[in-house]
Amino acid sequence: MLIEKLANYEQVSSAAASIVSDAISEHPKGLFGFATGSTPVKLYELLIASYQRGEISFEQLTTVNLDEYIGLPSGHEQSYSTFMQQHLFGHVNVRSNSIHFPKADTNPAIFDQFIQDQGGIEMQILGLGSNGHIGFNEPGSPFDSRTRIVDLAPSTITDNARFFDSVEDVPRQAVTMGIQTIMDAHRIILLACGPGKAEAVERCLLGPQTEEVPGSCLQSHSDLIVILDESASSKLT
Ligand code: GLP
Repeated sequence: MLIEKLANYEQVSSAAASIVSDAISEHPKGLFGFATGSTPVKLYELLIASYQRGEISFEQLTTVNLDEYIGLPSGHEQSYSTFMQQHLFGHVNVRSNSIHFPKADTNPAIFDQFIQDQGGIEMQILGLGSNGHIGFNEPGSPFDSRTRIVDLAPSTITDNARFFDSVEDVPRQAVTMGIQTIMDAHRIILLACGPGKAEAVERCLLGPQTEEVPGSCLQSHSDLIVILDESASSKLT
């Protein structure tokens, strides 16, 4: 595990952008895993800028996303496919048929099979929930779980209410890559910023590996890069 502690969100985003850009240049036909949430927004801005400068191309890339809400109408402004269009895919030359999200209306296992058929995920970008979740793998998710439908934890519903008009509008379920699906990625880059993530960061990276802290599985990954800002790393000694 490589941990980089940087001063602020801008530095975290630019360090992450340089690692992801290099990986895309090295594996232009690779399968890349993307995350949603507020954390990777600046990283995506920097990837768009790098694409616009002609440094990277998404033309032959295949993408998978970690998760998607269940119950939002297609095109809903808070759906994760809309998020990815707005923050990255709509601004680069990725082919629309190369973009893949886990789906709740077909057997979710198809998603894992697809990933395996592509030779696995070259690089998976991850954020972290304040309760230690990765994707929507909430506390209690089995470490050997695969892509599946899950109930969102009450703390996640509260955390994500800021993106909706009210807490009642937050979906109660999602479809997410499983912990094992994520762990099978060849490389993982985990980003966390802000004081609200400090405790989750400490529990994931230094605490005992337990299914009660989903991100603690990452301690066993053989190629994990963690990039943190000062406040998210404040509880690491
Ligand atoms: C969401 C997503 C996660 C994301 C996390 C953190 O619920 N399912 O994939 O990493 O919460 O979000 P943020 O970056 O907005 O703090």
